[in-house]
Amino acid sequence: MIDSNTQLYAVFGHPVRHSKSPFLHNFLFRQHELNAVYLAFEIHDIGSAVQSIRDLNIQGVSITIPHKETVMEHLDWIDPIARQVGAVNTIVNSSGTLKGYNTDIDGAMAPLLMHGIKHKKVCVLGAGGAAQAIACGIRNQGADLYVVNRSREKGEKLAQTFNGMFIESLELKQINPDIIVNTTPVGMFPHTTESPVSEDVFKPGMIAMDIVYNPLKTRFLTLAEQNRCHIIDGLNMFIRQGIAQFKLWTDRSCDYDQVRQHFSE
Ligand code: ATR
Repeated sequence: MIDSNTQLYAVFGHPVRHSKSPFLHNFLFRQHELNAVYLAFEIHDIGSAVQSIRDLNIQGVSITIPHKETVMEHLDWIDPIARQVGAVNTIVNSSGTLKGYNTDIDGAMAPLLMHGIKHKKVCVLGAGGAAQAIACGIRNQGADLYVVNRSREKGEKLAQTFNGMFIESLELKQINPDIIVNTTPVGMFPHTTESPVSEDVFKPGMIAMDIVYNPLKTRFLTLAEQNRCHIIDGLNMFIRQGIAQFKLWTDRSCDYDQVRQHFSE
């Protein structure tokens, strides 16, 4: 029941209408019987949107494209890991003090850590905001980072920031990575027949992870699976970063498998 005590949470982004975050967080609020609601706002001016968090006493906000970096200058405190990544995807309103965190790292690293990644060769495809978080997490776990990106300059910069190596996509086969993570939008609806790498890159036993979740099984993951790789789909990271946000906001823990089940219903 929404009443005059209902707490407001939100996602700020542009575009934002495709976001699955309201579906996720409203489910979690209901499941934990919290008097709270989560709404999506199409935001162009992030500075005034952050001011609205203060004015309206919004309790927590998810930040998505294109504001993850620019939001930082408007906050009162930034978590050291988010500062290291250079991006904030979560704001916690702690009695009027706005704190910035990055839960994309937790979201991406959790499924990879189950396989153990220390000293493994990990290749990140893309060099945008998500790639930054994943590259940071990979490096912090002691794996070897390789970056492939369409524009060389951006790819080299990312590789340099996290002590990795920029490589051309043609070199991928030769490097023979243990793990490949796609952070580009290649393969996303409606371009569902496209893959960011050619099929000959995949070897049995390799781990292929995609952050695209529309479609759930991208061409990249289909090719990987056909070549007996272990695959991790985009909903995995999405749900895990959301569960980490929910924990920051409410101090409640959630079971990944149970939440995932809700997405399949
Ligand atoms: P996000 O913040 O979600 O990671 P982003 O900042 O837009 O999104 O980054 C997307 C990444 O995917 C970029 O590295 C981009 O490459 P460029 O640096 O060359 O722009 C990459 N990307 C986007 N569209 C692509 C395409 N059609 N083919 C290959 N790479 C693409």
